Amino acid sequence: MSASTVEVSIVNSRQPVTVIGLGPMGQAMAGAFLDKGHRVTVWNRTPSRADALVERGAVLAGSVEEALTANELVILSLTDYEAMYAVLEPAAHALSGRVLVNLSSDTPDKTRAGARWIVEHGGVHLTGGVTVPPSGIGKPESYTFYSGPREPFETHQPTLEALTSTDFRGEDPGLAALFYQIGMVMFWTSMLSYWQAIALADAHGLTAAEILPHATETMASMPNFLSFYAARIDSGEHGGDVDRLAMGLASVEHVLHTIADSGVDTALPAVVVDLFRRGMDAGHAADSFSSLVQLMKKAG
Ligand SMILES: NC(=O)c1ccc[n+]([C@@H]2O[C@H](COP(=O)([O-])OP(=O)(O)OC[C@H]3O[C@@H](n4cnc5c(N)ncnc54)[C@H](OP(=O)(O)O)[C@@H]3O)[C@@H](O)[C@H]2O)c1
Repeated sequence: MSASTVEVSIVNSRQPVTVIGLGPMGQAMAGAFLDKGHRVTVWNRTPSRADALVERGAVLAGSVEEALTANELVILSLTDYEAMYAVLEPAAHALSGRVLVNLSSDTPDKTRAGARWIVEHGGVHLTGGVTVPPSGIGKPESYTFYSGPREPFETHQPTLEALTSTDFRGEDPGLAALFYQIGMVMFWTSMLSYWQAIALADAHGLTAAEILPHATETMASMPNFLSFYAARIDSGEHGGDVDRLAMGLASVEHVLHTIADSGVDTALPAVVVDLFRRGMDAGHAADSFSSLVQLMKKAG
């Protein structure tokens, strides 16, 4: 058997896949499948976004129905679950027998409702929460949370691993979305803290590049804090032996005043000070600032 015959038979043995939704993420995913030798059918509301993929060998389906019937395994990469209904409702009769891997992000409740809707139409729904930007697709060091029925997940896991490594969280379709949202809570607030630091630095003539080493070291110290507090929080321990909320309030007020004195936006540090003051009002002055978790467990 020649090298090219081997290559052709490897390509033919790969599972063919449909990708619906060609934003930056869907394009990266379809590209990763092509890179690994899968036959790829694509569909997008704006067909021109498929041009580069078609040049690389992807097949552009003429309709959603055609995209669904082309392959058993269908990847959805849409803005949210509303977009899923907008795209799939007119072709809902073609969902029967398909395995829909929905890598669009949304709330756990909306993913559960979406999964029920797919099942009602005879399909299988796997929820995914992708933890990396498009540049991380196709790399085994990246990972995606999955949840839903275990058996179809395990059947399609080798194909899904063309995108990223997989982390199956359980059969509840909301779980992958929940893990994704837990990460996003931390991502968005951490990045906002960085924008705030840059705005403060800028008010004093410092560039983002000049504060980068200090910013990087500050962020890199976080895992130590996370693991130290995780064990204490899980055992309900909020003693003020290491830090006290009253000290924390003084510190976050210094941050707020430094930012106000510098003439930059105070919205973010004001919210932080407000949370610390609520903790003080709730009687936690002598406790660790981890006691704020107790406040945050209740609807504000
Ligand atoms: N980009 C990231 O860094 C990143 C990282 C992790 C997770 N994600 C998640 O991955 C998903 C896709 O990301 P993305 O950046 O590619 O999102 P995007 O830019 O919002 O692209 C979304 C896709 O959804 C389609 N779409 C939206 N509303 C539609 C509707 N009503 N009817 C038909 N099609 C509709 C768009 O079609 P048109 O092309 O016609 O507009 C496009 O193909 C999102 O849920 C996002 O949260 C993204």
